[in-house]
Amino acid sequence: MKQPVIYFDHYMLRDIELKDANDMFVYGSDIEVVKFLSWGPYMDITEAYGSIKRYFLERPNRGLPVGYAIVDLESNQMIGTVDFHTIVEDGVVEAGYCLNKAYWNKGVMTKALRKLLEVGFYYHGYKKIIIGHADTNIGSKRVIEKNNFIFDYKDNEKYYNRFTGLHEPSSWYYLTKEQFK
Ligand SMILES: CC(C)(COP(=O)(O)OP(=O)(O)OC[C@H]1O[C@@H](n2cnc3c(N)ncnc32)[C@H](O)[C@@H]1OP(=O)(O)O)[C@@H](O)C(=O)NCCC(=O)NCCS
Repeated sequence: MKQPVIYFDHYMLRDIELKDANDMFVYGSDIEVVKFLSWGPYMDITEAYGSIKRYFLERPNRGLPVGYAIVDLESNQMIGTVDFHTIVEDGVVEAGYCLNKAYWNKGVMTKALRKLLEVGFYYHGYKKIIIGHADTNIGSKRVIEKNNFIFDYKDNEKYYNRFTGLHEPSSWYYLTKEQFK
C-alpha cells in the first residue's frame, strides 16, 4: 500500500513515519487545530507517537494507505496530514486532513487535497471519494468546494462536538472518478 511521493510548490507529500511525532505534536497540541477533530489536544509527545503507530501505521491492515504527511521542503518540517481514513464500501473511501495553524489560509490544503484525489483515483483506483465538515468549519468547507466536490446531504447526528457535548450539523460531499477533472 505504498504511495508515490508527490511534490507541489515547495511541499512534499510522503507516507507518514514515526519520526513525524515531534512535528505532529506541535500542531496536535494546538486546541484551535483540533477543535473540530475527534482527537487531541496532545498533552505530550508520546500521544503523537501513539497515534502514528496505532492510527496511521496500522491502516494497511485495514486495506488503506498509511496517509500522507505534508512536508515543508524549505524548513523540512512536517506540517500536517491529508489521507484516506475510512473504507465506506468497496472502492469508496473517506478523506480527511489537518494542518499546522501557521500554514492556514495560504492554499496549502486545497492543493494537497487535489493531489490526494489524483492519487486516490489514478493510483489506488478508487471509484468514489467522500468528505464532510462541521457546518461551522468554514475553512474546511472552502477546501472541499475549491476541489469541486458535489454536495450530497446535511446531517444532524454524524458530527459530535466533544467540547459542547452536542451533535451538530455537518455537510457531506462526494466526487467520482468520472466527475474528477
Ligand atoms: C481546514 C484546513 C485544513 C484548511 O487548510 P488551509 O490550507 O488553510 O486551506 P486553504 O488555504 O486551501 O483554503 C482555506 C479557505 O477557507 C477560507 N477561510 C478560512 N477560515 C475562514 C473563515 N473563518 N471564514 C471564511 N473563510 C474562511 C480561506 O479564506 C480560504 O478560502 P479562499 O481561498 O476562498 O479565500 C485547516 O484550517 C485545518 O487544518 N484546520 C484544522 C483541522 C480541520 O479542521 N480539519 C478538517 C476537519 S473536517
